[in-house]
Amino acid sequence: MRINSPKLNIMYKACMKASKSLIRDFGEIENLQVSSKGPGDFVSSADRRTEKIIIDELLKAYPDYGILSEEAGEINEKNKTNRWIIDPIDGTSNFLNGIPHFAISIGYEEENKIKNGLIYDPIKNELFFAESGSGAFLNNSRIRVSKKKNLRKSLIGTGGPKSESKIKNEIFQEFLLISENIETPIRKFGSASLDLANVACGRFDGFWQRELSYWDVAAGIVIIKEAGGFIDFIDKDVNESKKRNLVASNSLIHQELIDLIKKNIEKN
Ligand code: IPD
Ligand code: CA
Ligand code: CA
Repeated sequence: MRINSPKLNIMYKACMKASKSLIRDFGEIENLQVSSKGPGDFVSSADRRTEKIIIDELLKAYPDYGILSEEAGEINEKNKTNRWIIDPIDGTSNFLNGIPHFAISIGYEEENKIKNGLIYDPIKNELFFAESGSGAFLNNSRIRVSKKKNLRKSLIGTGGPKSESKIKNEIFQEFLLISENIETPIRKFGSASLDLANVACGRFDGFWQRELSYWDVAAGIVIIKEAGGFIDFIDKDVNESKKRNLVASNSLIHQELIDLIKKNIEKN
């Protein structure tokens, strides 16, 4: 790891330990795919197994720190100053279907600000990480957002809606309106953390999604910022902790992308 940071070292250790069991579990999926029971229950336990390894490692290092994790919820919730934000498998549908595109995502928050982020794609062995003020990295190389200026020639990612979303139809409509306006293919790869990592290293020029959860994006927030990108929540009339509609991109197309998305959300 190129940054000498106590926090990132702990996050890295926890993530690598968890990823070993996650890779083993992913190897099982292929067999379960063709079984009559399917891999559903197995994936839920893989999710929890991965989460437990990460949480145990983080608590071993910092027993009093707060944790917000997708499956386990809140731990040490009285500690509002130091908190880990964890998504043990981001891209569960991909994992469940044997598609090798998912990640472990861990963010570290201090005084409500994300200071460190780590997103690890165990199948491609790609580790994205950043510490506030120290730049963003992919494995051993510094990463930066793209320099594309023209939104219409950009590659943009998005995600959702989730099957349980109450505004599923609305989100589909928006998707159609926005893609018509951009006139460029839009990618939906199914892992919001990796989508953000892809913006950070310039593979995507931008990304937007509605109804995200904090654990989907916490690590990505600092990685994008440290890679020179812009990231904004565009929710109207909700307080900070409830914001869920995100736009991230290189600085050159950011305002145009925000305006386009807002316009189409309002039109809908
Ligand atoms: C999901 C993925 C997906 C996004 C969904 C998330 P999960 O997370 O990040 O790309 O579109 O909104 O819930 O359920 O795989 O951890
Ligand atoms: Ca997620
Ligand atoms: Ca998850």
